[in-house]
Amino acid sequence: MTTDNALPWTDATALDEVPDDDVTSVQLDGRDIALYKVEGTVFATDNTCTHGHARLCDGFLEGHEIECPLHQGKFDVRDGTPTCAPVTEALRCYPVRIEGGRVFLQLPG
Ligand code: FES
Repeated sequence: MTTDNALPWTDATALDEVPDDDVTSVQLDGRDIALYKVEGTVFATDNTCTHGHARLCDGFLEGHEIECPLHQGKFDVRDGTPTCAPVTEALRCYPVRIEGGRVFLQLPG
């Protein structure tokens, strides 16, 4: 996920709050965001599935794939690419930076 130098970084949560090889969620600036930690690296995407009204934080993370809890569609959390039907539309992803034990995200204005 490339960063945008024009956008500020927003403090999302403590790094320790993101469970290893699992998913959690945060509310930031009115957005519902899913945070994943895979082999020590944190990724951030929209938390709402692009197929329907399901929260991905209630789904199942296996490797870099999050499985939606409603119809079992899957996305790659690294870039939001759909990897399993019925999802066809990519998830929005957010740049992540770790600093001082905190997780910072770049959110669009
Ligand atoms: Fe996520 Fe249908 S709502 S796959």
